Amino acid sequence: MKRPYLKPREPSGMEWWTYLSFAAVIYVATIVSLRMLYPEKHLDWSIIDETQRTFPESFQWGVATASHQIEGGNSNNWTEFETRSNIEESGDACDHWNRWQEDFQLLEELGVATYRFSLEWSRIEPEKGQWNAEALQQYSDMIDDLCRRGIRPMITLHHFSHPQWFEQREGFLDKDNIGLWVHYCEKVFERYCDRVTDWCTVNEPEVFSIMGYFMKMFPPGKRSLRSTLTVMRNVVQAHGIVYHRLKQHNPVCRIGLAKNVTLFDPLKRWNLLHWTTSAALNFVWNGAIVRALKKGTMFGKKMPLVRGSLDFIGLNYYTHVLTSPFLPQTNEVNFPKRSHETMTDFGYPMYAEGLERAVKMLETLEVPIEITENGTADQHDTLRPIHLQRHVWMVSELLQQGHDIRSYYHWSLMDNFEWAEGYSLRFGLYHVDYQTQVRTLRQSGSIYRDIINEASQD
Ligand code: BGC
Repeated sequence: MKRPYLKPREPSGMEWWTYLSFAAVIYVATIVSLRMLYPEKHLDWSIIDETQRTFPESFQWGVATASHQIEGGNSNNWTEFETRSNIEESGDACDHWNRWQEDFQLLEELGVATYRFSLEWSRIEPEKGQWNAEALQQYSDMIDDLCRRGIRPMITLHHFSHPQWFEQREGFLDKDNIGLWVHYCEKVFERYCDRVTDWCTVNEPEVFSIMGYFMKMFPPGKRSLRSTLTVMRNVVQAHGIVYHRLKQHNPVCRIGLAKNVTLFDPLKRWNLLHWTTSAALNFVWNGAIVRALKKGTMFGKKMPLVRGSLDFIGLNYYTHVLTSPFLPQTNEVNFPKRSHETMTDFGYPMYAEGLERAVKMLETLEVPIEITENGTADQHDTLRPIHLQRHVWMVSELLQQGHDIRSYYHWSLMDNFEWAEGYSLRFGLYHVDYQTQVRTLRQSGSIYRDIINEASQD
């Protein structure tokens, strides 16, 4: 009888479904851990009374503007870009250069204790090495006037605009140009630091570099990842150099930069690709700069002067962006939002809760936080009142939790030239009629005035 052939057993190999189960378990565990580690907090605002808030007496209330957005009649990298791109021209803007006294009266009406504004480099040094005495004098008069009114000036040295001669040399793309900006900063600092204690070197290095060198929305309107990272690094480096130079002139002054913290959250919180995208964007937009200020290195380069170059950190907070690998190539889109969130006119959601995460991110720098910008585009002033109240309430909560926040500057005093979006977006506590240049206090403006008034009586 034939003996049945016994097939030797294969050494036990794992079946495909075993691998799949393993992968599924790892995927789920990763997502669960990420969701626990990085919760996206949302509050039930229907049970919150935003008018319940308290502030220390020392807390400073302010509003913020920037030269190119309000002055009018400028000639700089932006005006050049406006003529060759598809955006509205800034033209007369709010004609603030001629109406500044009237506008400072508005500051007084609001009752603010501090005002953040920027100096227009292209007015002060219209050609390399040529200094415009009249412009220097006018800014000096403005500072005096603010001081007379009891309003603390905070000056921004670079808020997106600079002279065309600087741009023609490739601006901050070429690190050899940093010295030109440093020289200008020293010049104006020497002139005004006897009256101005608070200085903000650069406004939003990440917005400036990404919008100008990747999104093509700001001058020079390029798309190159390499240039974007170079410019970001050079601007942060320039900040570090200026910080130390200015401190040598006057160690008493407080110097910082304004960091835009946009939070990038995964659109689908169960999708690892969405988490990966948001982590990458968070790093490029926020992490790289915070790390540079903490450790003195950025994108592999050592920048020892940048480490700890802050007496305060300015926080510009607006929103969170829900991300997936399909990223918009311009910001002329409506970003996604959570179903319960309200969209602002800018096309991104109102997310006041995010202020807490933004503050926690920046307080790792171990210096006081000044909220140098917060506000919303809202043409009809239907959203701004609640937007303002929620954010101010968040600040009060954060102060009660012990976070070191010294001030809140609303963006903005009045409607103005909103960069790539031109005049279509209105951010002002005052409405501006661009035909007549009449400014009118909005309901949100009077709410802000009441908030300030009420806080000073606490
Ligand atoms: C900028 C302002 C701008 C505001 C509103 C900030 O990122 O610093 O100049 O107007 O956002 O979009």
